[in-house]
Amino acid sequence: MSLTDLIYAGSNAVAGLTEGAVNDAIEKYGESHTVGYPDTAYFLPIIYAATGVKIKTLGDLPAAVGILKSLITNKEDLGDALNAGLATAVGAEIIEAIRYLDGDPYANDAGIGFVADPIIRSLGVPLVTGDIPGIAVLLGESADPAALAAIVKDYQEKGLLTFMVGNIIEQALEAGVKMGLDYRVIPLGHEVTSVIHVVSVAIRAALIFGGIEPGKLPEFLTYTKERVPAFVNTFGELNEVIVSVGAGAIALGFPVIADVPVPEVPGALMTQADHAKTVEFSLEAREIKIKVTKIDVPVSVASAFEGERVRKDTMFAEFGGNKTKCWELVKEADLSEIEDHKITVVGPEIDDAQFDGADVVRLPLGILVEVAGKNMQKDFESVLERRIHYFTNYIDGAMHVGQRNIAWIRLTKEAYEKGFRLKHIGEVLYAKMRADFDNVVDKCQVTLYTNLEDVERLEEEMVKPIYAKRDERLNALTDESVDTFYTCTLCQSFAPSHVCVVTPERLGLCGAVSWLDSKATKELDPAGPSQPIEKGEAVDAKIGIWEAVNKTVAAASQGAVERVTLYSILEDPMTSCGCFECICGIMPEANGVVIVNREFSEISPVGMTFGELASMTGGGVQTPGFMGHGRHFIGSKKFMSAEGGLTRIVWMPKELKDDVAERLNKAAFELTGVENFVDMVCDETIATDSEAVLEFLEAKGHPALAMDPIM
Ligand code: SF4
Ligand code: NI
Ligand code: NI
Repeated sequence: MSLTDLIYAGSNAVAGLTEGAVNDAIEKYGESHTVGYPDTAYFLPIIYAATGVKIKTLGDLPAAVGILKSLITNKEDLGDALNAGLATAVGAEIIEAIRYLDGDPYANDAGIGFVADPIIRSLGVPLVTGDIPGIAVLLGESADPAALAAIVKDYQEKGLLTFMVGNIIEQALEAGVKMGLDYRVIPLGHEVTSVIHVVSVAIRAALIFGGIEPGKLPEFLTYTKERVPAFVNTFGELNEVIVSVGAGAIALGFPVIADVPVPEVPGALMTQADHAKTVEFSLEAREIKIKVTKIDVPVSVASAFEGERVRKDTMFAEFGGNKTKCWELVKEADLSEIEDHKITVVGPEIDDAQFDGADVVRLPLGILVEVAGKNMQKDFESVLERRIHYFTNYIDGAMHVGQRNIAWIRLTKEAYEKGFRLKHIGEVLYAKMRADFDNVVDKCQVTLYTNLEDVERLEEEMVKPIYAKRDERLNALTDESVDTFYTCTLCQSFAPSHVCVVTPERLGLCGAVSWLDSKATKELDPAGPSQPIEKGEAVDAKIGIWEAVNKTVAAASQGAVERVTLYSILEDPMTSCGCFECICGIMPEANGVVIVNREFSEISPVGMTFGELASMTGGGVQTPGFMGHGRHFIGSKKFMSAEGGLTRIVWMPKELKDDVAERLNKAAFELTGVENFVDMVCDETIATDSEAVLEFLEAKGHPALAMDPIM
């Protein structure tokens, strides 16, 4: 059979299966029964993107099947055949949605099935920073499980996000591959149709970040081809259905690399039979470049291990976590004062004889990272210090929580047995500081203190005074006190017209970029995503209008956005790219706003979930009344100051409320004299329906009720 015949055979088979499944489901549940995926604002996302049609009930499906069939022309033409591949995708999306009618079909499966919107949004930042350099989709059953596992681990060490479909899931698990979202290896499911859940991720990226209008299929295909760095590896013999799924992938711009002979289409469908070459070959095919930092330690160090948790039963050693003291400090030094790559452990190592037979090794720990460089500035100390958290977490077998002198580190037995020691934390910090901050760090020296006396003395004499100085500087940093704001355009790789304006009192909406971060980024990468805005006189300081800001945003968004206010949610609010930590929306009857964070999956008092609220904005578009922002912005005196400020907040999820309580109370008191403002803010443990929320606000005498009408 020719390639096109194979694709059509697969597509026609899937079309038949889809039609059958739809008819059966309608017969069983009736046309008015709802159908859809959990925790998404985009219905059946592929159909929605391709046609603009919002599938809500089973009765909507036959028309979609009609469209699917019209995509299969059976003409001997590769372009047509690729469209038939898209038909297979539509069919798989329908079949999988029908599987969800009886509850989560993946509840007892190694696979996770549908990927919810908030997870996709959380991937935005690591994808734009290149922390996740690409997306690998692996499919099938390997004739050589060991080679398969080596490939998955290689992708993992390179930081890629790997999705797996088919029996390769068990094969990789048996070979010891660590799996789950926390490890960036995501098993989707065993049925070939479950591959649709990764296609759905790519398509929703275009909806969420790209802001592409549903119905414009060609624009979606351009977006996935140009901006979603995915590719497919198939393992084992290919049947017609897999070939037609592959055709769908190719239509999206994702090259397919098989390990068996296939009719090759250069750049799109290729064979690489040698598993030792699969990774390199695939990365080249998709033009994914990997930045490697060689680090001389006995375990893997990769961003993919960032989310790993170390539990009690697998733990070998522990520092901090209320059991012992643990602090970390990055300190600027003179070039002449320190010796590059000098790593010292002052005090016992974790393999010290005194720990023989101990259940867990517990030690106090002080991590001192001294850096020197011509371009180093005092302000960058805290920026670099915050990276200790990430760099330590990258270690396969290490967990890092907290910061400063409430840091908490755990190491696994597995890492210890591989030879990992405390000094290796020094090696990792050294290597990453040099690699990631090469423009400002010319020399780096790491000292790890484990004697109680040193740890306590240095904390009092050196560490705490430095923290205190920094806090003083941070508290004095206001939008008024600086001459320069910064742009951040990192997210333009996904949201082409989006620009964040980062000020001392307003961090980037992803929560990951503060004004100090931007300042350091400008120094590290002078032509990069953070560019200074010399702000000059404000046109309106209350609403946050600056001529210079408007000009810069207009230029950085290629004219898409001409006016932005920094402190208003109603008048020219900042655009959103899609990866915001929180979304804020108006609750008119309460004369205030609700804020929902990405982690909260229930419904909010405005009748929408985070995902639904989030879908109201994004893609670099201005949407008055909705604003994406970082968690930290909630305690800022500039939060919505144009509309009366942060006492407009009437509802937040409990977890978020607790997280921001201290700063929010302090700012609210300083601004308005209201004490314990957070106690007046409602949350889901008190009420989520509008009337009950209002009752609560009235009972508490919430200040928003007495403010000018919000709209
Ligand atoms: Fe994206 Fe804004 Fe964060 Fe930069 S600051 S990474 S543009 S969300
Ligand atoms: Ni880790
Ligand atoms: Ni973003």
